[in-house]
Amino acid sequence: MTDFLVRRDDLRIHRTDDGEQTLASAAEGTVQFRVEGFGLTANNLTYAVFGDSYGYWRFFPAPEGWGRIPVWGFGAVSVSGVHGIVPGDRFYGYWPMSSFVTLRASPNRAGFVESSAARAPLPPVYNYYLRAVPEAGFEPGQDGASMIMRPLFTTAWLIADQLAANGWHGAEAAVLASASSKTAYATAWAIREHDDPPTLIGLTAAANVEFTEGLGVYDDVLTYDNIGALPADRGIVLIDMAGNADVRRQVHEVTHRVLRASIMVGATHWEGATFGVGDGLPGPRPELFFAPTVGQERAAALGPAAFAQRVGAAWLAFADRVPELIKIEHATGADALATAYTGFVEGKADPRKGLVFAL
Ligand SMILES: NC(=O)c1ccc[n+]([C@@H]2O[C@H](COP(=O)([O-])OP(=O)(O)OC[C@H]3O[C@@H](n4cnc5c(N)ncnc54)[C@H](OP(=O)(O)O)[C@@H]3O)[C@@H](O)[C@H]2O)c1
Repeated sequence: MTDFLVRRDDLRIHRTDDGEQTLASAAEGTVQFRVEGFGLTANNLTYAVFGDSYGYWRFFPAPEGWGRIPVWGFGAVSVSGVHGIVPGDRFYGYWPMSSFVTLRASPNRAGFVESSAARAPLPPVYNYYLRAVPEAGFEPGQDGASMIMRPLFTTAWLIADQLAANGWHGAEAAVLASASSKTAYATAWAIREHDDPPTLIGLTAAANVEFTEGLGVYDDVLTYDNIGALPADRGIVLIDMAGNADVRRQVHEVTHRVLRASIMVGATHWEGATFGVGDGLPGPRPELFFAPTVGQERAAALGPAAFAQRVGAAWLAFADRVPELIKIEHATGADALATAYTGFVEGKADPRKGLVFAL
Protein backbone atom coordinates (compact mmCIF):
# COMPACT_ATOMS: atom_id res chain seq x y z
CA MET A 1 0.00 0.00 0.00
CA THR A 2 1.20 3.50 -0.73
CA ASP A 3 1.91 6.82 0.99
CA PHE A 4 2.80 9.89 -1.10
CA LEU A 5 5.40 11.98 0.74
CA VAL A 6 6.98 15.38 0.09
CA ARG A 7 10.19 16.85 1.52
CA ARG A 8 9.18 19.45 4.08
CA ASP A 9 12.19 21.65 3.26
CA ASP A 10 11.81 21.35 -0.53
CA LEU A 11 8.28 20.79 -1.75
CA ARG A 12 9.52 19.94 -5.25
CA ILE A 13 10.88 16.63 -3.96
CA HIS A 14 8.48 13.76 -3.45
CA ARG A 15 8.59 10.00 -3.08
CA THR A 16 6.29 7.08 -2.41
CA ASP A 17 6.64 4.79 0.58
CA ASP A 18 5.06 1.56 1.64
CA GLY A 19 2.06 2.68 3.60
CA GLU A 20 -0.20 0.81 6.01
CA GLN A 21 -1.01 -2.78 5.17
CA THR A 22 -4.60 -3.91 5.40
CA LEU A 23 -5.38 -5.03 8.93
CA ALA A 24 -7.27 -8.18 9.87
CA SER A 25 -8.85 -6.35 12.80
CA ALA A 26 -8.68 -2.88 14.33
CA ALA A 27 -7.70 -2.00 17.91
CA GLU A 28 -10.58 -0.82 20.07
CA GLY A 29 -11.46 2.82 19.34
CA THR A 30 -9.74 2.81 15.95
CA VAL A 31 -10.92 2.31 12.38
CA GLN A 32 -8.86 1.49 9.32
CA PHE A 33 -10.04 3.20 6.12
CA ARG A 34 -9.37 2.62 2.50
CA VAL A 35 -8.90 6.17 1.16
CA GLU A 36 -11.24 5.85 -1.82
CA GLY A 37 -10.41 9.13 -3.50
CA PHE A 38 -9.41 12.73 -2.90
CA GLY A 39 -9.30 16.02 -4.76
CA LEU A 40 -6.07 17.85 -5.52
CA THR A 41 -6.00 21.64 -5.86
CA ALA A 42 -3.58 24.44 -5.03
CA ASN A 43 -5.14 24.45 -1.56
CA ASN A 44 -3.33 21.19 -0.77
CA LEU A 45 -0.02 22.69 -1.83
CA THR A 46 -0.79 25.63 0.47
CA TYR A 47 -1.22 23.15 3.34
CA ALA A 48 2.34 22.01 2.61
CA VAL A 49 3.68 25.58 2.27
CA PHE A 50 2.26 26.36 5.73
CA GLY A 51 2.85 22.84 7.05
CA ASP A 52 5.03 24.03 9.92
CA SER A 53 3.47 27.40 10.71
CA TYR A 54 -0.15 26.20 10.67
CA GLY A 55 0.40 22.63 11.88
CA TYR A 56 -0.64 20.82 8.68
CA TRP A 57 2.20 18.31 9.04
CA ARG A 58 0.79 17.24 12.38
CA PHE A 59 -2.32 15.49 11.05
CA PHE A 60 -0.64 12.43 9.58
CA PRO A 61 2.79 11.30 10.87
CA ALA A 62 5.60 10.78 8.35
CA PRO A 63 9.30 9.85 8.43
CA GLU A 64 11.65 12.59 9.71
CA GLY A 65 11.96 15.48 7.22
CA TRP A 66 8.99 14.31 5.13
CA GLY A 67 5.32 15.27 5.17
CA ARG A 68 1.99 13.75 4.19
CA ILE A 69 -0.13 16.48 2.65
CA PRO A 70 -3.75 16.43 3.82
CA VAL A 71 -6.50 16.13 1.21
CA TRP A 72 -10.31 16.11 1.23
CA GLY A 73 -12.19 13.07 0.06
CA PHE A 74 -13.94 9.83 0.93
CA GLY A 75 -12.78 6.89 2.98
CA ALA A 76 -14.51 3.51 3.27
CA VAL A 77 -14.18 1.47 6.45
CA SER A 78 -12.09 -1.67 5.94
CA VAL A 79 -12.00 -2.83 9.57
CA SER A 80 -13.47 -1.22 12.65
CA GLY A 81 -12.90 -1.36 16.38
CA VAL A 82 -15.68 1.15 17.03
CA HIS A 83 -19.27 0.27 17.84
CA GLY A 84 -21.65 1.65 15.18
CA ILE A 85 -19.00 1.98 12.46
CA VAL A 86 -18.87 -1.06 10.21
CA PRO A 87 -16.92 -2.17 7.12
CA GLY A 88 -18.21 -0.48 3.98
CA ASP A 89 -19.43 2.69 5.76
CA ARG A 90 -18.27 5.75 3.85
CA PHE A 91 -17.12 9.04 5.39
CA TYR A 92 -16.13 12.41 3.98
CA GLY A 93 -13.24 14.25 5.58
CA TYR A 94 -9.54 14.90 5.86
CA TRP A 95 -7.17 12.16 4.73
CA PRO A 96 -3.49 11.71 3.92
CA MET A 97 -2.36 11.02 0.36
CA SER A 98 -2.34 7.30 1.16
CA SER A 99 -4.10 4.07 0.26
CA PHE A 100 -5.00 3.23 3.86
CA VAL A 101 -5.04 5.09 7.14
CA THR A 102 -6.07 4.20 10.67
CA LEU A 103 -7.86 6.88 12.68
CA ARG A 104 -9.10 7.08 16.25
CA ALA A 105 -12.86 7.58 15.92
CA SER A 106 -15.38 8.84 18.47
CA PRO A 107 -18.81 8.48 16.82
CA ASN A 108 -21.32 11.32 16.86
CA ARG A 109 -24.65 11.92 15.14
CA ALA A 110 -23.12 13.11 11.88
CA GLY A 111 -20.22 10.65 11.69
CA PHE A 112 -17.23 10.73 14.02
CA VAL A 113 -14.56 12.96 15.49
CA GLU A 114 -10.91 11.99 15.11
CA SER A 115 -9.96 11.97 18.77
CA SER A 116 -6.25 11.15 18.94
CA ALA A 117 -4.23 13.35 21.29
CA ALA A 118 -2.09 14.70 18.44
CA ARG A 119 -5.20 16.12 16.74
CA ALA A 120 -6.66 17.85 19.80
CA PRO A 121 -4.81 21.17 19.39
CA LEU A 122 -5.59 21.39 15.65
CA PRO A 123 -8.61 23.28 14.23
CA PRO A 124 -11.68 21.12 15.02
CA VAL A 125 -13.15 21.33 11.49
CA TYR A 126 -10.38 19.05 10.23
CA ASN A 127 -11.24 16.43 12.86
CA TYR A 128 -14.92 16.05 11.90
CA TYR A 129 -15.76 13.20 9.53
CA LEU A 130 -19.24 13.11 8.02
CA ARG A 131 -21.19 10.07 6.94
CA ALA A 132 -21.39 10.33 3.15
CA VAL A 133 -25.18 10.26 2.94
CA PRO A 134 -27.60 12.48 1.00
CA GLU A 135 -28.96 14.00 4.24
CA ALA A 136 -25.48 15.46 4.80
CA GLY A 137 -25.37 16.91 1.28
CA PHE A 138 -23.57 14.00 -0.39
CA GLU A 139 -25.82 13.36 -3.36
CA PRO A 140 -25.09 10.36 -5.58
CA GLY A 141 -23.12 11.54 -8.60
CA GLN A 142 -21.54 14.49 -6.81
CA ASP A 143 -18.54 12.72 -5.27
CA GLY A 144 -16.06 14.42 -7.62
CA ALA A 145 -17.48 17.87 -6.90
CA SER A 146 -17.39 17.17 -3.15
CA MET A 147 -13.77 16.00 -3.18
CA ILE A 148 -12.54 18.96 -5.19
CA MET A 149 -14.79 21.79 -4.20
CA ARG A 150 -16.74 21.34 -0.99
CA PRO A 151 -14.19 22.79 1.49
CA LEU A 152 -13.28 25.57 -0.96
CA PHE A 153 -16.94 26.42 -1.40
CA THR A 154 -17.46 26.55 2.38
CA THR A 155 -14.59 29.05 2.56
CA ALA A 156 -16.13 31.05 -0.29
CA TRP A 157 -19.53 31.08 1.41
CA LEU A 158 -17.95 32.29 4.66
CA ILE A 159 -16.05 35.09 2.91
CA ALA A 160 -19.22 36.30 1.16
CA ASP A 161 -21.24 35.97 4.36
CA GLN A 162 -18.70 37.99 6.35
CA LEU A 163 -18.38 40.70 3.69
CA ALA A 164 -22.15 41.01 3.37
CA ALA A 165 -22.48 41.27 7.17
CA ASN A 166 -19.98 44.13 7.02
CA GLY A 167 -21.92 45.90 4.26
CA TRP A 168 -19.11 45.08 1.79
CA HIS A 169 -17.02 47.50 3.90
CA GLY A 170 -18.76 50.25 1.97
CA ALA A 171 -17.06 49.09 -1.24
CA GLU A 172 -18.69 49.12 -4.66
CA ALA A 173 -16.22 46.68 -6.20
CA ALA A 174 -14.46 43.53 -5.00
CA VAL A 175 -11.12 42.58 -6.57
CA LEU A 176 -10.30 38.87 -6.41
CA ALA A 177 -6.66 37.91 -6.96
CA SER A 178 -5.95 34.46 -8.43
CA ALA A 179 -9.42 34.74 -9.94
CA SER A 180 -9.10 31.44 -11.83
CA SER A 181 -8.75 29.54 -8.54
CA LYS A 182 -11.77 27.58 -7.35
CA THR A 183 -11.90 29.37 -4.02
CA ALA A 184 -11.93 32.74 -5.83
CA TYR A 185 -14.66 31.99 -8.32
CA ALA A 186 -16.75 30.19 -5.74
CA THR A 187 -16.42 33.38 -3.66
CA ALA A 188 -17.57 35.47 -6.61
CA TRP A 189 -20.52 33.10 -7.04
CA ALA A 190 -21.39 33.28 -3.33
CA ILE A 191 -21.13 37.09 -3.32
CA ARG A 192 -23.56 37.23 -6.24
CA GLU A 193 -26.11 35.30 -4.20
CA HIS A 194 -26.42 38.28 -1.83
CA ASP A 195 -28.52 41.40 -2.37
CA ASP A 196 -26.70 44.38 -3.88
CA PRO A 197 -23.40 42.62 -4.53
CA PRO A 198 -20.37 44.71 -5.45
CA THR A 199 -18.97 44.68 -8.97
CA LEU A 200 -16.58 41.71 -9.21
CA ILE A 201 -13.17 42.15 -10.82
CA GLY A 202 -10.89 39.16 -11.27
CA LEU A 203 -7.09 39.35 -11.46
CA THR A 204 -5.36 36.43 -13.14
CA ALA A 205 -2.43 35.33 -15.31
CA ALA A 206 -2.68 36.05 -19.03
CA ALA A 207 -2.95 32.31 -19.74
CA ASN A 208 -6.03 32.03 -17.53
CA VAL A 209 -8.01 35.06 -18.75
CA GLU A 210 -10.17 33.16 -21.21
CA PHE A 211 -11.10 30.50 -18.65
CA THR A 212 -11.78 33.13 -15.98
CA GLU A 213 -13.98 35.25 -18.24
CA GLY A 214 -15.84 32.13 -19.35
CA LEU A 215 -16.87 31.33 -15.77
CA GLY A 216 -19.43 34.11 -16.02
CA VAL A 217 -19.06 35.21 -12.39
CA TYR A 218 -16.80 38.26 -12.86
CA ASP A 219 -17.89 41.59 -14.32
CA ASP A 220 -14.36 42.25 -15.49
CA VAL A 221 -11.10 40.29 -15.69
CA LEU A 222 -7.65 41.92 -15.68
CA THR A 223 -4.19 40.39 -15.98
CA TYR A 224 -1.54 40.83 -13.32
CA ASP A 225 0.39 43.18 -15.60
CA ASN A 226 -2.62 45.46 -15.90
CA ILE A 227 -3.31 46.19 -12.23
CA GLY A 228 -2.96 49.90 -13.01
CA ALA A 229 -6.34 49.65 -14.79
CA LEU A 230 -8.18 48.93 -11.53
CA PRO A 231 -10.75 51.63 -10.80
CA ALA A 232 -9.50 54.20 -8.30
CA ASP A 233 -12.72 56.20 -8.17
CA ARG A 234 -14.91 53.88 -6.07
CA GLY A 235 -14.59 51.87 -2.91
CA ILE A 236 -12.76 48.56 -3.30
CA VAL A 237 -12.19 45.46 -1.23
CA LEU A 238 -9.31 43.13 -2.11
CA ILE A 239 -9.85 39.39 -1.63
CA ASP A 240 -6.48 37.81 -2.20
CA MET A 241 -6.12 34.12 -3.02
CA ALA A 242 -2.70 34.57 -4.69
CA GLY A 243 -0.58 35.62 -1.69
CA ASN A 244 1.77 37.25 -4.17
CA ALA A 245 3.49 40.11 -2.31
CA ASP A 246 4.09 42.06 -5.52
CA VAL A 247 0.46 41.77 -6.68
CA ARG A 248 -0.82 42.82 -3.26
CA ARG A 249 1.56 45.80 -3.14
CA GLN A 250 0.50 46.94 -6.62
CA VAL A 251 -3.21 46.70 -5.78
CA HIS A 252 -2.64 48.70 -2.59
CA GLU A 253 -0.58 51.32 -4.41
CA VAL A 254 -3.13 51.78 -7.20
CA THR A 255 -6.25 51.75 -5.02
CA HIS A 256 -5.14 52.80 -1.52
CA ARG A 257 -7.26 55.98 -1.48
CA VAL A 258 -10.41 53.90 -2.05
CA LEU A 259 -9.32 50.54 -0.62
CA ARG A 260 -11.72 49.73 2.21
CA ALA A 261 -10.39 46.31 3.21
CA SER A 262 -7.63 43.92 2.19
CA ILE A 263 -8.28 40.27 2.97
CA MET A 264 -5.61 37.59 2.69
CA VAL A 265 -7.16 34.21 1.94
CA GLY A 266 -4.64 32.14 0.02
CA ALA A 267 -1.19 31.68 -1.46
CA THR A 268 -1.59 30.01 -4.84
CA HIS A 269 1.55 31.91 -5.96
CA TRP A 270 3.31 29.91 -3.28
CA GLU A 271 6.92 30.73 -4.01
CA GLY A 272 7.70 33.88 -2.11
CA ALA A 273 4.09 34.19 -0.98
CA THR A 274 3.60 36.35 2.09
CA PHE A 275 0.77 35.71 4.44
CA GLY A 276 1.73 37.97 7.34
CA VAL A 277 -0.22 40.99 8.47
CA GLY A 278 0.91 44.62 8.59
CA ASP A 279 3.09 44.78 5.50
CA GLY A 280 3.43 48.56 5.75
CA LEU A 281 1.45 48.94 2.53
CA PRO A 282 -0.53 52.08 1.72
CA GLY A 283 -4.20 51.67 2.58
CA PRO A 284 -5.82 49.38 5.15
CA ARG A 285 -3.76 46.76 6.89
CA PRO A 286 -4.19 43.33 5.23
CA GLU A 287 -6.17 40.98 7.45
CA LEU A 288 -5.92 37.21 7.43
CA PHE A 289 -9.05 35.15 6.72
CA PHE A 290 -8.86 31.62 8.13
CA ALA A 291 -11.97 29.61 7.30
CA PRO A 292 -11.70 27.09 10.19
CA THR A 293 -11.84 29.94 12.71
CA VAL A 294 -14.49 32.01 10.92
CA GLY A 295 -16.62 28.89 10.36
CA GLN A 296 -16.44 27.95 14.03
CA GLU A 297 -17.49 31.46 15.06
CA ARG A 298 -20.32 31.56 12.54
CA ALA A 299 -21.59 28.11 13.60
CA ALA A 300 -21.55 29.25 17.24
CA ALA A 301 -23.49 32.42 16.36
CA LEU A 302 -26.12 30.75 14.16
CA GLY A 303 -26.26 27.45 16.00
CA PRO A 304 -24.57 24.40 14.43
CA ALA A 305 -27.74 23.02 12.82
CA ALA A 306 -28.79 26.33 11.22
CA PHE A 307 -25.23 26.92 10.05
CA ALA A 308 -24.99 23.44 8.48
CA GLN A 309 -28.39 23.91 6.87
CA ARG A 310 -27.46 27.28 5.30
CA VAL A 311 -24.05 26.23 4.02
CA GLY A 312 -25.42 22.86 2.93
CA ALA A 313 -28.22 24.40 0.85
CA ALA A 314 -25.80 26.84 -0.78
CA TRP A 315 -23.38 23.98 -1.47
CA LEU A 316 -26.00 21.84 -3.20
CA ALA A 317 -26.92 24.75 -5.48
CA PHE A 318 -23.27 25.32 -6.35
CA ALA A 319 -22.44 21.62 -6.70
CA ASP A 320 -25.01 21.35 -9.48
CA ARG A 321 -23.00 23.89 -11.45
CA VAL A 322 -19.57 22.32 -10.90
CA PRO A 323 -19.67 20.14 -14.07
CA GLU A 324 -20.20 23.33 -16.12
CA LEU A 325 -17.16 24.96 -14.51
CA ILE A 326 -14.57 22.17 -14.55
CA LYS A 327 -14.01 18.83 -16.21
CA ILE A 328 -13.56 16.28 -13.43
CA GLU A 329 -10.80 13.75 -14.15
CA HIS A 330 -10.11 10.63 -12.10
CA ALA A 331 -6.70 8.95 -11.99
CA THR A 332 -5.17 6.13 -9.99
CA GLY A 333 -1.63 5.58 -8.74
CA ALA A 334 1.32 7.51 -7.38
CA ASP A 335 2.78 8.39 -10.81
CA ALA A 336 -0.35 10.21 -11.91
CA LEU A 337 -0.54 11.97 -8.54
CA ALA A 338 3.14 13.00 -8.74
CA THR A 339 2.64 14.49 -12.21
CA ALA A 340 -0.38 16.49 -11.11
CA TYR A 341 1.30 17.59 -7.88
CA THR A 342 4.29 18.87 -9.86
CA GLY A 343 1.86 20.79 -12.06
CA PHE A 344 0.69 22.78 -9.04
CA VAL A 345 4.25 23.26 -7.77
CA GLU A 346 5.29 24.67 -11.14
CA GLY A 347 2.12 26.67 -11.79
CA LYS A 348 1.18 24.54 -14.80
CA ALA A 349 -2.08 23.08 -13.53
CA ASP A 350 -4.96 23.59 -15.94
CA PRO A 351 -7.82 25.43 -14.19
CA ARG A 352 -10.30 23.74 -16.58
CA LYS A 353 -9.68 20.44 -14.83
CA GLY A 354 -10.74 19.17 -11.43
CA LEU A 355 -8.46 16.34 -10.36
CA VAL A 356 -9.41 13.32 -8.26
CA PHE A 357 -6.95 10.61 -7.24
CA ALA A 358 -6.82 7.23 -5.58
CA LEU A 359 -3.62 5.47 -4.55
N1 LIG B 1 -7.77 31.02 4.26
C1 LIG B 1 -8.49 29.92 4.19
O1 LIG B 1 -9.15 29.50 5.13
C2 LIG B 1 -8.54 29.18 2.88
C3 LIG B 1 -9.51 28.19 2.65
C4 LIG B 1 -9.56 27.55 1.40
C5 LIG B 1 -8.62 27.87 0.43
N2 LIG B 1 -7.66 28.81 0.73
C6 LIG B 1 -6.62 29.14 -0.24
O2 LIG B 1 -7.13 29.64 -1.46
C7 LIG B 1 -6.16 29.39 -2.48
C8 LIG B 1 -6.85 28.83 -3.70
O3 LIG B 1 -7.00 27.45 -3.56
P1 LIG B 1 -7.74 26.55 -4.67
O4 LIG B 1 -7.62 25.16 -4.21
O5 LIG B 1 -9.06 27.16 -4.92
O6 LIG B 1 -6.81 26.78 -5.92
P2 LIG B 1 -6.90 26.21 -7.43
O7 LIG B 1 -8.28 26.23 -7.92
O8 LIG B 1 -6.15 24.95 -7.54
O9 LIG B 1 -6.07 27.39 -8.11
C9 LIG B 1 -5.49 27.27 -9.36
C10 LIG B 1 -4.98 28.65 -9.75
O10 LIG B 1 -3.98 29.10 -8.84
C11 LIG B 1 -2.95 29.79 -9.53
N3 LIG B 1 -1.74 28.96 -9.38
C12 LIG B 1 -1.70 27.67 -8.98
N4 LIG B 1 -0.43 27.25 -8.82
C13 LIG B 1 0.33 28.29 -9.11
C14 LIG B 1 1.74 28.49 -9.12
N5 LIG B 1 2.60 27.52 -8.79
N6 LIG B 1 2.20 29.71 -9.49
C15 LIG B 1 1.33 30.69 -9.81
N7 LIG B 1 -0.02 30.55 -9.80
C16 LIG B 1 -0.50 29.37 -9.45
C17 LIG B 1 -3.46 29.95 -10.95
O11 LIG B 1 -4.36 31.06 -10.90
P3 LIG B 1 -4.13 32.58 -11.38
O12 LIG B 1 -3.38 32.54 -12.66
O13 LIG B 1 -5.53 33.10 -11.53
O14 LIG B 1 -3.38 33.26 -10.26
C18 LIG B 1 -4.29 28.68 -11.11
O15 LIG B 1 -5.23 28.75 -12.13
C19 LIG B 1 -5.11 28.43 -1.89
O16 LIG B 1 -3.94 29.13 -1.50
C20 LIG B 1 -5.84 27.91 -0.68
O17 LIG B 1 -4.99 27.45 0.35
C21 LIG B 1 -7.61 29.45 1.91
